[in-house]
Amino acid sequence: MILDQLRILKNIPDEQFDAIYPFEIRELSDRHWTSVYVAKLSAGYLCNQKNVKVLDIGSGVGKFCLVGATLHPKSDFYGVDIRQNLIDISNSIKTKYAIPNTSFFQKDVLQMDFSGYDGIYFFNSFQEKIDTTSVIDRHSEISVDMYMTYVNHIFNELNKVPVGTKLVTYYSEEFYVPKTFKLISTHIKGELKFYLKDMEADEIHTQLNTEDVDDHIDKHTFLNDLNT
Ligand SMILES: C[S@@+](CC[C@H](N)C(=O)[O-])C[C@H]1O[C@@H](n2cnc3c(N)ncnc32)[C@H](O)[C@@H]1O
Repeated sequence: MILDQLRILKNIPDEQFDAIYPFEIRELSDRHWTSVYVAKLSAGYLCNQKNVKVLDIGSGVGKFCLVGATLHPKSDFYGVDIRQNLIDISNSIKTKYAIPNTSFFQKDVLQMDFSGYDGIYFFNSFQEKIDTTSVIDRHSEISVDMYMTYVNHIFNELNKVPVGTKLVTYYSEEFYVPKTFKLISTHIKGELKFYLKDMEADEIHTQLNTEDVDDHIDKHTFLNDLNT
């Protein structure tokens, strides 16, 4: 069984892991789902103590949580995604492979606060709102206003989590991360970043850098126009 092999070998090729998913989900893997290697590296950082609770914001088909929970059986992994079909797939794999320490819930991240987690994983969940090449399915819809709403929500929630909370971002812009987080290390040519919250939020550190957000949106609006 694939997850038994992962337990023993501590890493397996993505093609092998992705065989647990239906064909149409496998096709999205390169672009949208975390690789086994990145999940392993990230979970290793987030779970270096016993019994931690980890949240994946926009958990897709659960790849990060399934790999993390398999490799760290004493920690608990929670995945939240807006798409019910992806949550159903994640839950069916959790059940089929009997992985007790991960759970998946359908929710819009806007309805969530991030309190109660020791570690947070974030793989650029809202790119589909501004980037026509980032389509997941027919529900992907360009909306700059929604993108801004999501960026603000993530930034504000991260500002509220307690000192000591760990954060991993993958292919995500730095403006999501308040300055109350210290960058600990970078991997995968800088696309994977490990942070630790080491400061309480104050007036100086609670301001989102809207200029950087606007630049990012402008860049993608320009690229979208080129692609049409
Ligand atoms: C790039 S994928 C990452 C999937 C997963 N974290 C992984 O690493 O394999 C981003 C996910 O965010 C989800 N998403 C997008 N908007 C969301 C929202 N408002 N609330 C919750 N999930 C959302 C998408 O459905 C998609 O599955």
